Amino acid sequence: MKKWHVGAIIALGFLVTLGASSNSVSGSNPEPDEGFKNLKVLPKNISDKQLDSVMGEFSISLGARCGFCHARKADTTKRGLDFASDAKDEKEIARNMYKMTSYLNATYFNWKNSTRPDTIHYVVCYTCHRGTHSPDAQVFLHMIDSTEQAFRKNRH
Ligand code: HEC
Ligand code: HEC
Repeated sequence: MKKWHVGAIIALGFLVTLGASSNSVSGSNPEPDEGFKNLKVLPKNISDKQLDSVMGEFSISLGARCGFCHARKADTTKRGLDFASDAKDEKEIARNMYKMTSYLNATYFNWKNSTRPDTIHYVVCYTCHRGTHSPDAQVFLHMIDSTEQAFRKNRH
């Protein structure tokens, strides 16, 4: 478990470094240049840098490490994650969440009638997730319940 922590911190540190030095990443990038293998919602021609920043957004928004969505390599003698694998359900859920978020932006937030609704980011993962993987509606519903009860009491 500890190892994952360290890995995640290094990965995020890497993202931050990428953001800071946008034009000198070629030597240090762990992804080979052959492109990504299994993109179904992100643009197929996305650059390494853009993909890293999307993955960083996912991770920070959900307070999750890469391994929350990405399965470990099937060959257990090898370390690390198989990023192209769809073995974890969380990855597919994240794809659906991405589609939902894009739909919300394109349908309800395209106030300027943009021809590129994919560039609208009023609603982002963080809007709901706030650093947790399960934004728990129950907490809020309990709050509403007790507020209602308080209102009712005060009326009499
Ligand atoms: C909340 C879930 C989630 C988290 C957390 C996450 N990813 Fe992803 N990742 C995805 C999804 C979903 C895709 C596929 C996108 C698509 O289908 O277009 C993906 C795709 C990728 C790919 C492309 C793989 C390929 O060849 O198709 C890489 C590389 C990757 N992620 C790296 C990372 C790294 C590094 C981290 C941690 C910093 C990370 N991801 C964190 C959900 C996640
Ligand atoms: C409109 C609000 C909203 C937005 C925007 C949103 N999510 Fe979610 N997401 C939820 C809710 C609610 C749940 C279910 C929480 C629960 O009950 O476990 C959830 C669950 C998930 C899960 C499953 C978590 C688990 O514990 O298995 C993943 C993965 C996820 N979201 C990824 C994303 C990603 C990635 C984005 C941005 C592309 C995103 N979400 C945007 C509301 C949202």
